[in-house]
Amino acid sequence: MFTFHRKNFSKPSQRFPPLEVFLLSEQRRIHELEHHHVLSLQLSSALSSFSASGSHFSGYDEDHSPRPKMTMHLLQIAKKLAHDAGKMALKAQQKSFTVETKDGNPINYVTAVDKACEALILKTIESNFPDHSILSEERGAVEKGGEYKWIIDPIDGTSNFVHGIPLFAISIAVIHKGKPIIGVIDIPGLGESYWAQEGKGAFCGTKPIHVSKTNTMQKAMFGTGFSYDRAGPRYAKNMELWNAFYKVSNGCRRMGSAALDLCFVAAGRYDGFWEYDLQPWDVAAGKIIVEEAGGQVTNIDGNPFNPKTRAILASNGLMHQDMLKMMRDHGADKI
Ligand code: IPD
Ligand code: CA
Ligand code: CA
Repeated sequence: MFTFHRKNFSKPSQRFPPLEVFLLSEQRRIHELEHHHVLSLQLSSALSSFSASGSHFSGYDEDHSPRPKMTMHLLQIAKKLAHDAGKMALKAQQKSFTVETKDGNPINYVTAVDKACEALILKTIESNFPDHSILSEERGAVEKGGEYKWIIDPIDGTSNFVHGIPLFAISIAVIHKGKPIIGVIDIPGLGESYWAQEGKGAFCGTKPIHVSKTNTMQKAMFGTGFSYDRAGPRYAKNMELWNAFYKVSNGCRRMGSAALDLCFVAAGRYDGFWEYDLQPWDVAAGKIIVEEAGGQVTNIDGNPFNPKTRAILASNGLMHQDMLKMMRDHGADKI
């Protein structure tokens, strides 16, 4: 017998004005802030004054922190774009839309709505920040050589989207000199907007969120996912892991959106999550949200997270060693 403490989750509340109004008021706000504080630069000159440097997802540059007001500005824009794209996608899910397959894989879908959400997001970023690099799932990478890079998954959970399941997410991360500084994930079907800023905690709407306190396998709830490659050894290995985790835990879930899964770890709904074959746009925002919520994110072998391995393990921190042991016991860290 044990007392089950309700997990620490609370509903968000967030309202945004139309995009043009929002951008204008943001510009005004930044100008005001800079006028009243030490920073005298106006937004335009602040943007152009950033010097060029290589931008990559892993690898931290401790020497130059991003300007706090610039980070705040980028965060507001990322939240607004994810929210607007999410609203548009949720509406579009009720109507008809075209579906194509991609990468030569008949079960890997991309819809006209993925592309419309991406276009909406890219248009604002590119017109406001012409020197920022962007890695976006459907369009690919555009390198500008500046300090900032945006990593975008316009719809994470496209299979759910196609089947009318309202579990999909819009995921936007901002990287500064290789270091993730902002993560935003909007889940319109749940009415939840997750976000985190480096060093400032993680939130759902206006409420701070925190990972769970679960510390035994028996009580833990896990999440995972399966890539579109059903032929490779990782697919078989993940089926084995699913069985192994399921047997010893309170359960496992497969929601169909890695970005949503990572938010569930951050919000304390899942106690751990793992998955093979994810791409940077699936996890860039979720990683910082989990970490800012007090959780831990590594490779499946326990090494510091490197998206190139395309294998992730995220947890509340307390379950991390047990999860890594499970990976080792099943040779999951070796493939
Ligand atoms: C997919 C989702 C899914 C995961 C797949 C991803 P998409 O992203 O995150 O949960 O299992 O591996 O590719 O294709 O819907 O953007
Ligand atoms: Ca995805
Ligand atoms: Ca996607």
